[in-house]
Amino acid sequence: MSALRFSDTISAALADGILVVTIDNAPVNAISADVRSGLMAALEHAEKEGAVAGIVLTGAGNNFIGGADIKEFGKPLVPPHLPDVISRIESSPKPVVAAINGAALGGGLEVALACHRRLAAPTAKLGLPEVKLGIVPGAGGTQRLPRLTGIAAAIDMIANGRIVSAAEALKLGIVDGVTKGELIAEAIADAKMTNAVSLRRTGSLTVPPEATDAIDKAASDASRKARGQRAPSEAVRLVRLAATVSLSEGLAEERRTFIALRDSEEAAALRHVFFAERAAGKVEGLETVAPRKIETIGIVGTGLMGSGIAVSALNGGYRVIGVEQSAEVAEKGRERITALLDKAVQSGRLDAAGREDRLGRLTVTADMQQLVQADLIIEAVFDDLTVKTELFQCLDSIVRAEAILATNTSYLDPDVVAAATQRPERVVGLHFFSPANIMRLLEVVNCKQTAPDVLATAIALAKRLGKLPIVSGVTEGFIGNRIFSAYRREAEYMVEDGASPQEIDAALEAYGFPMGPFAVFDMAGLEIAWARRKRQAATRDPAERYVVIADRLCEAGRFGQKTGRGWYAYPDGKRTDDPEVTAMIEAARAEKAIVPKSFTPEEIVSRLLKAMVDEGEALLSEGIAARASDIDLVMINGYGFPASKGGPMFAAGRR
Ligand code: 3HC
Repeated sequence: MSALRFSDTISAALADGILVVTIDNAPVNAISADVRSGLMAALEHAEKEGAVAGIVLTGAGNNFIGGADIKEFGKPLVPPHLPDVISRIESSPKPVVAAINGAALGGGLEVALACHRRLAAPTAKLGLPEVKLGIVPGAGGTQRLPRLTGIAAAIDMIANGRIVSAAEALKLGIVDGVTKGELIAEAIADAKMTNAVSLRRTGSLTVPPEATDAIDKAASDASRKARGQRAPSEAVRLVRLAATVSLSEGLAEERRTFIALRDSEEAAALRHVFFAERAAGKVEGLETVAPRKIETIGIVGTGLMGSGIAVSALNGGYRVIGVEQSAEVAEKGRERITALLDKAVQSGRLDAAGREDRLGRLTVTADMQQLVQADLIIEAVFDDLTVKTELFQCLDSIVRAEAILATNTSYLDPDVVAAATQRPERVVGLHFFSPANIMRLLEVVNCKQTAPDVLATAIALAKRLGKLPIVSGVTEGFIGNRIFSAYRREAEYMVEDGASPQEIDAALEAYGFPMGPFAVFDMAGLEIAWARRKRQAATRDPAERYVVIADRLCEAGRFGQKTGRGWYAYPDGKRTDDPEVTAMIEAARAEKAIVPKSFTPEEIVSRLLKAMVDEGEALLSEGIAARASDIDLVMINGYGFPASKGGPMFAAGRR
């Protein structure tokens, strides 16, 4: 094999008459301008060179190609363009075989789809996740995928950005084989037997009439999940085109749509979210700190929160020891965890073998001493400072000296909990969101004395649990609840100033929140915040503006949906305005002689956004949050802020 180089990122070697072209653009082999020009040069070389009978295209490292280079988006397009590279692959007179060694995503799968054959390693994953970036595939994905899978399956994958395994890709017809042995050797053998010309698919796709229902269902499922975003419905429209127009017409329409969406605000926001997620969990100073090895996790308290955390830990492959106060309560905890696993099986997220495997790693006991086996213990007991500090003092004498203690509190001061132990440097906060087995956000609280390796371990653990870790300093409510409190306060000020709860909710829902703030308060229940306000009453600054309406609702027994009444009434479970609430609001305004004014939806959104951003700026200046994009991720993943707006800090900067 003699090595050839076509650009900084594209090299090749001739093996048995086949040119094996390798894309090496760490970390994910994204298709940059250098990759595109190198591929063009390699294809040209292969076409001209008599000794080359075919081409195998593969990626260096663990990925085939992670997509177009997202860092180039928002900048002028540099030729050669990806569709031109892809069309050159497709029209190559010599067969091109994709040897898909790892992730083939977005433009990466589009390159593979244009090849004449596709072989995948068993660990490969394939997909067109462009909608998650607010765009549609822009290099043939919406036209070439349905020509392999049919329209319905292509809509399902593209409009939902669903990524599939090599095995599923084989079933769907996306790949021609999943290799058992050496991928490159098999691809070379395949290339030698392939006739490029006979494998071109350029006409429109014939759709059997019986496929119509499945197509309509895939399209309506996708639009239901799209939450007002444009890209999924555009993806559906483009995929459907494959049945009515030629490949070249479909490609032209796809490219026009891709370019229009790529330059949209929605795409800019979702790109921000993509890079924000990659930056999250990176802490200055921790780059060289190795996380500790964690195999067994202890969870004290297996109620609603603890059982969700247990399922999350089991999903992450850990051994779990749940501890309860009595054998009877431990049995209830075990049942709760089993029920969550059963639910996952029913919904298809888990198979029977996965359930058995998880239950095999679970112990729930009333014997606290068993925690001596745990490398990390998470407490998920009642959110009360005395309860938590007493528990930590007790754990101190049971667990191994090097074990990490984590507190799952939403509002209490974890520094106080840490100070109650002999090992404050081994204490960290892990603020899970409910339901803990589903919600992706995990605030990792860096306490005053948390040791760097303990923080690094908590971040690594969060990632293994499939969570999005955001590091927060210690403050009342950490990042999320502090901003949410500011949002809540401002929403209540606005009600006092003249907006109705329903006007505020409608404005926020039109902006993209699944639910406005008052509907959320009613869903979560009003009594916990009421109890906190009563606790804080003695220390509250009397000069600070205070809105009494929520207190009055609670005094009237209106605790939200659970009591059938809160900010709204819920006859037959349906959210409805209640004249009794309107009267309470009017009375509160009258007491302060406030003349109500009217608000446009735009004013409502601006005021709430400003309240969130002001609090976000305060968190940054206090050093509680490391970066504005962390705040955006917390609000998107924990509080329903629309991802398509990029989070409050990003959105405010675009206004
Ligand atoms: N372009 C530029 N940079 C990318 C990238 C891309 N397509 N994909 C990943 N990166 C960068 C990340 O920002 C990160 O950078 P950092 O180290 O500086 O933070 C680094 O690569 C590693 O990324 P991950 O942490 O995500 O690595 P993993 O190993 O966990 O995952 C992956 C690898 C599965 C490929 C994942 O990175 C991924 O899902 N990437 C995006 C896939 C995607 O959305 N592709 C579509 C792009 S749009 C497109 O192709 C348009 C086309 O239709 C024309």
